Amino acid sequence: MEKIKILFVCLGNICRSPSAEGVMKKLIKDRGLENQIYIDSAGTHGYHEGELPDSRMRAHAARRGYKLDSRSRPVKYNDFFDFDLIIGMDDRNIANLKRMAPDDESVKKIHRMTEYCTRHTLDHVPDPYYGGTDGFELVLDLLEDACEGLLKMEISKVASIPSQYP
Ligand code: 4NP
Repeated sequence: MEKIKILFVCLGNICRSPSAEGVMKKLIKDRGLENQIYIDSAGTHGYHEGELPDSRMRAHAARRGYKLDSRSRPVKYNDFFDFDLIIGMDDRNIANLKRMAPDDESVKKIHRMTEYCTRHTLDHVPDPYYGGTDGFELVLDLLEDACEGLLKMEISKVASIPSQYP
């Protein structure tokens, strides 16, 4: 069976999207779904290409049990073909992704992280880069909520595949 492939996207790929990747990978590992779902992250800009996630973000994530060890990379053309879902954190990321999308099918893959939240009502994951400690905690609160919601939706898809194709 083909893996479901999910790409999380923010601006620099050093704060929000690598955290989404870390949170989602842990949920997937804890549920033994690593063979069914593939996760990656990227940025709409390449300012920080090759860097580890921001040290403040890594420290906050580590306190909740998430190890963030991805390296920043920009979104590339093939991502729009390789991934099933491309999930942006805020309006700017989503507008950039829509501008970069090569065709209509690619545009349909673009979603907003907060659409999967079930407890929080904020409509975007705010950029924590120029803010303080609270911003990093809010990012993790929103991402934990959204990743749980997203995984529930994806599990139902994985579970429905064998019955659709007996
Ligand atoms: P991210 O945060 O998009 O969540 O990775 C940022 C990282 C770097 C910058 C802005 C936002 N920057 O301006 O360098």
